[in-house]
Amino acid sequence: MPSRGRLTDAPVASVPAVAEPYVTFSHLRASLRPRAGALEAVAPAPSALTPDRPADPALARPGADATIPDLRHAAIALHDVTKVYPNGKRALIEVDLVVPEGDFIFLVGPSGAGKSTLIKLLIRDELATTGTVLVAGRDLARLRRRHVPHLRREIGIIFQDFKLLPSKTVHENVGFALEVTGTPRREVGPAVERALALVGLSAQAEQRPNQLSGGEQQRTAIARAMVHGPRIIIADEPTGNLDPLISWEIIQLLLRINELGTTVLMATHNAEVVTALRKRVVALEEGRIVRDEVGGYHRQY
Ligand SMILES: Nc1ncnc2c1ncn2[C@@H]1O[C@H](COP(=O)(O)OP(=O)(O)OP(=O)(O)O)[C@@H](O)[C@H]1O
Ligand SMILES: [Mg+2]
Repeated sequence: MPSRGRLTDAPVASVPAVAEPYVTFSHLRASLRPRAGALEAVAPAPSALTPDRPADPALARPGADATIPDLRHAAIALHDVTKVYPNGKRALIEVDLVVPEGDFIFLVGPSGAGKSTLIKLLIRDELATTGTVLVAGRDLARLRRRHVPHLRREIGIIFQDFKLLPSKTVHENVGFALEVTGTPRREVGPAVERALALVGLSAQAEQRPNQLSGGEQQRTAIARAMVHGPRIIIADEPTGNLDPLISWEIIQLLLRINELGTTVLMATHNAEVVTALRKRVVALEEGRIVRDEVGGYHRQY
């Protein structure tokens, strides 16, 4: 494992001897418990946000059925979700998925399986055609437009191509989102410094993206995703543009963030990483979930 900054402190994943089925709905009640926010010690906690309205009562009836958990307490819950694009393409079909707070999930599947579509639903870039999508207790179909920024404060998003602003420094890139949402200037600086310390980039704060390696650019993007103390990190192929060694550094960083309490959902084609870590793996094929269990990658996509 490479030695670079804080990444060397990252925890080593436990490795079960055999693959086992992941929890089903009937097991979830016990596992759905709130966790502490990851960046409480590193960045300001987000304000306590109440859902705009209660989640779909058909989905969340505590006590009504002992086998159905209160999905409002899950980080992410999709129930019978189908997404049909305007051209008629059915990108997701009858997807059920529950991600308890604090989980680390790999989303795998061949190109075109629907991974990015699922992620777009979670960040409300797209709306489900039918079914229910709950993120951090919010029913996204019912979320009013003016409350979308509240949702975005609960999630941090990381993309394959980093999406950094080329004319801004590392510090400015990380602080930019806080500034545009009206965070007082005196709070932005310390929050950015804590996020950069988390990813081990304090020394590069004044550099611009074109003066950084690919791995450093992605770590800047992770700092940007973490600066507002999100409950959930959603990453769409975050190591897709990085060589294997640097990919492992990024994964170690995401594991560390998860250990600190943040739920992580990561779409990836990186079979080596998925197989080595023995985390929960959700596999999509042609828009359907075909596997949901702790284990390896299994197939070459
Ligand atoms: N805006 C869109 N309009 C129509 N079809 C779309 C749109 N976006 C995606 N699709 C189609 O939906 C399907 C799923 O696409 P998606 O991008 O979710 O796949 P993916 O699993 O992320 O693939 P990859 O591994 O290549 O990133 C594909 O057939 C794709 O062509
Ligand atoms: Mg994709």
